[in-house]
Amino acid sequence: MNTDDTVRTFLDFYRERGHELITGSTLLPPPSDPVLFTTSGMHPLTPYLQGRPHPQGRRLVNVQRCLRTTDLDEIGDVTHLTVFEMLGSWSLGDYDHPQSLRWGHELLRDGFGIPSEKLYVTVFGGDEQVGPDLESLRTWRELGLPLESTRDENWWSNGTVGPCGPDSEIFFWTGDGPPEGRPTTDSRWVEIWNHVHMRYERGEDGGLVPLRQVNVDTGMGLERLVSVLQGRRSVYETDLFEPWMRTVPPLWDLDEQSTRVVCDHLRSSVVVVGDGVRPSNTGRGYVLRRLVRRLLTVLRRDDPSRTVGDLPVGLVEHTLDHFRQSLGAGIVRDVLLDEERRFGRLLERGRRVLSRPRFQGALTEEDYGYLHDTHGLPREMVAGLMEDR
Ligand code: SER
Repeated sequence: MNTDDTVRTFLDFYRERGHELITGSTLLPPPSDPVLFTTSGMHPLTPYLQGRPHPQGRRLVNVQRCLRTTDLDEIGDVTHLTVFEMLGSWSLGDYDHPQSLRWGHELLRDGFGIPSEKLYVTVFGGDEQVGPDLESLRTWRELGLPLESTRDENWWSNGTVGPCGPDSEIFFWTGDGPPEGRPTTDSRWVEIWNHVHMRYERGEDGGLVPLRQVNVDTGMGLERLVSVLQGRRSVYETDLFEPWMRTVPPLWDLDEQSTRVVCDHLRSSVVVVGDGVRPSNTGRGYVLRRLVRRLLTVLRRDDPSRTVGDLPVGLVEHTLDHFRQSLGAGIVRDVLLDEERRFGRLLERGRRVLSRPRFQGALTEEDYGYLHDTHGLPREMVAGLMEDR
């Protein structure tokens, strides 16, 4: 099953069960939202989870593109991506959580052909404020899936305040032999789907109040699901990354992890630029700038002549097409090249300034402040240059 089939199977399953498809097209949250980027499928739905009627009804489904920078240090491993897509389904005060779990199991088994033996689930075991999630426990037992309960791992929130609730996570066995251990003891159990019983709101004071309606919010990372369904160890080995992995290794001779970082950051930068963001020193533009600088640092470590200009424009087009973005590939490439030139100039200045006698020893906080304020040299770049000497 390729990526497009996977998306279609998911959407059709929920549409057949009365869910309306909502758009999940941009990474940019609505202007009233304080966060920089959409981080999960439920994020743009927050007001509707809190009780505002949604114009398309109480059952919704979508594919939402998301960006998470909290995982930036994990990029380069086999499952994390900066920009990814999330398959989501919602009941806004309509059907209950057990129904969502039953449908979830049905779709994995009948729609995606995953045998139940390869699944393990976790449920919320209760804490000082909320009791154990007995409904989910009962439902999973009825469905015959092995389960374990946890405390902190099975509580979902999108920040310190706002809608939250106990969740049930579904794990898939990725090991070679028969399944062993449990999700909390064996990392070969990989989380693929999260069903959140979104029924509380956490206030500024840390207290929980019941939401006006009891919701279900589910989210499943598309790329991870696809790698599981295609029997691949890594998201980079799926059809989604095939054009990248066919093009990048012959172009730039990098180790495996660096190839992954470069592919992830380049692809993410293309999507962010495609959504209208331009590099800058603040906000979204700064996230983009950091992504581009990180990828250039890795790319040019062994060979400073490497440039994003080497990248075939067809690869940029392929990414923009996949995310249904209308910006021309040439424009995206120019934005990246412009940023690369700027980065090159800054590096040069950094080397020149750091060669002064004053900076020969370890740098003080005052030095970092001076280098930043007077020469525009970001701390992480200075640290990188210091390491290289
Ligand atoms: N909110 C949950 C998550 O992001 C499910 O959508 O994992």
